Amino acid sequence: MRFVQLASGNEVPALGLGTWRMGEAKRSRTAEVGAVRTALEIGYRLIDTAEMYGNGGAEEVVGAAIQEAFQAGIAARADLTIVSKILPSNASHAGVMRACERSLKRLQLDAIDLYLLHWRGSTPLQETVAAFEQLRSESRIRHWGVSNFDTSDMQQLSSLSAGVNCVANQVYYSASERGAEFDLVPWQREHGVVTMAYSPIDQGALASDTTFATIGRRHRISAASAALAWVLQQPGMIAIPMSGSAPHLRENFAAANVDLTAEDLAQVDAQFPPPKRKRPLATT
Ligand SMILES: NC(=O)c1ccc[n+]([C@@H]2O[C@H](COP(=O)([O-])OP(=O)(O)OC[C@H]3O[C@@H](n4cnc5c(N)ncnc54)[C@H](OP(=O)(O)O)[C@@H]3O)[C@@H](O)[C@H]2O)c1
Repeated sequence: MRFVQLASGNEVPALGLGTWRMGEAKRSRTAEVGAVRTALEIGYRLIDTAEMYGNGGAEEVVGAAIQEAFQAGIAARADLTIVSKILPSNASHAGVMRACERSLKRLQLDAIDLYLLHWRGSTPLQETVAAFEQLRSESRIRHWGVSNFDTSDMQQLSSLSAGVNCVANQVYYSASERGAEFDLVPWQREHGVVTMAYSPIDQGALASDTTFATIGRRHRISAASAALAWVLQQPGMIAIPMSGSAPHLRENFAAANVDLTAEDLAQVDAQFPPPKRKRPLATT
């Protein structure tokens, strides 16, 4: 497994598990808890979720799976990085405090390792950041960050006195969606903000891509795994693919141990050229 260092000095796994679309239906609950537990058995140690997913249901799935994993001795709390996100509609000072407590209860945890503002809303950033800082001082969260922030948003955030404590920005990034590479990713690298790539296999689309199938054959991995390996090849980047399928979870996990060659990278650039100009940050 590769690790990525946060500005705090803490190291977190470069490959994690996404949970969007989990927790939406009660009838799928057992299978979803099983999938997250399987991921933990395989070795995943970072899990991304959000209060929005399944209206809290995904956090409940994660909470149930990690409790099972603790009881079975599969994983220890200290080895896990649990990431959750707060909706912008809850981003007032009091709203953050209440939302965090609800998330902690659903996750059955005392602290969230990384708490992100899901996207920017109408609450002044200063107010949300002050609330995040209070949660950090009360050890309810260990780190905080943002999601779907473009370069100008990051610049505004960094102009706040506590803005330097933002450790990550989670954005849409995959070989077929490279817009963030133009100025956002370089800005973040320069300012010690880790980029977390969401939809890193483009919501499954890259699993049937012929370029990645060719690259995958050279490394004896699947196309999806090759697409993930490409994201993980970017220095200091975290990728959080979602899967509810054990074979896919295994394939995806294998990506963290693959080094792509210069030939592979050139092939990706030919098929998915890097951006030549600034475009607004893409969202799913
Ligand atoms: N911050 C934000 O605004 C934001 C937005 C979107 C997503 N996210 C986070 O990022 C995570 C990942 O993004 P995502 O779920 O949109 O897209 P993704 O991870 O790129 O793709 C997930 C889809 O790909 C399929 N898949 C996964 N591994 C596969 C494999 N090896 N072979 C074939 N198909 C495979 C999954 O189906 P199976 O279950 O069948 O494997 C699922 O349909 C989310 O779950 C969420 O945690 C955050």
